[in-house]
Amino acid sequence: MRVVVLTGAGISAESGLSTFRDSGGLWEGHDPMQVATPEAYDDDPGLVQRFYDERRAALARVRPNAAHDALARLEARLGEDLLVVTQNVDDLHERAGSARVHHIHGRLRSAWCTTCDERHPWDGPLGDRPPCPWCGEATLRPDIVWFGEIPYGMDLVERALGECDLFVSIGTSGVVYPAAAFVHWARGTTLELNLEPSAGASDFAESRQGPASRLVPAWVNELLGEGPGTST
Ligand code: APR
Repeated sequence: MRVVVLTGAGISAESGLSTFRDSGGLWEGHDPMQVATPEAYDDDPGLVQRFYDERRAALARVRPNAAHDALARLEARLGEDLLVVTQNVDDLHERAGSARVHHIHGRLRSAWCTTCDERHPWDGPLGDRPPCPWCGEATLRPDIVWFGEIPYGMDLVERALGECDLFVSIGTSGVVYPAAAFVHWARGTTLELNLEPSAGASDFAESRQGPASRLVPAWVNELLGEGPGTST
């Protein structure tokens, strides 16, 4: 069985990372339009860099939760038949043990040089304008896909969705495109696992509500025929 899983901020919420739309539209106290657009970066690069430096540093203080662990367990069984597509810029899937993870919105632990176009693994701050390790210019920015920019690897995602038997959406509000349209691109049956019905809940064949740390392990058990499943 070929499975594509889409994850959003909700899967990392119980690890202690804040979601985008659950606290009055603010993300860590900021309007996303003031920190997550190319225009915001042009206007005030220092503010945007500091914001992402804080987010990057926060990764060291959090750990994967039972939902990330369950998806890693699923990959151990399904191998190449599972692809996790995430909108998250954290690294909690990888730290839980998932290897087949595609970050359509980029990654906090990567820096992109706008002069030479190289990308570099990055764990420290960018706000102090360090030189690019490749070309030496102080033009590194977070390797994050901001509003108005093109998500990474959509051809790969479209192909996987067109070939999948099951598409599962976890912890995403379903309001940001293109991810919100994946349910329509999926060839197979569709399932949503979210704290509350998302904006697109009625597009899924089935929608289950609850915290990801409970719903995801239960669904994985169900799929693998290991132990009790969950009720809707
Ligand atoms: N378990 C399951 N779902 C949860 C949990 C939880 N513990 N906590 C919150 N949720 C759900 C919320 O109900 C909400 O529907 O997760 C969803 C989070 O939605 P958003 O904050 O909108 O995050 P996301 O869908 O990932 O945002 C998409 O928008 O700002 C951009 O680029 C950013 O990748 C992000 C994209």
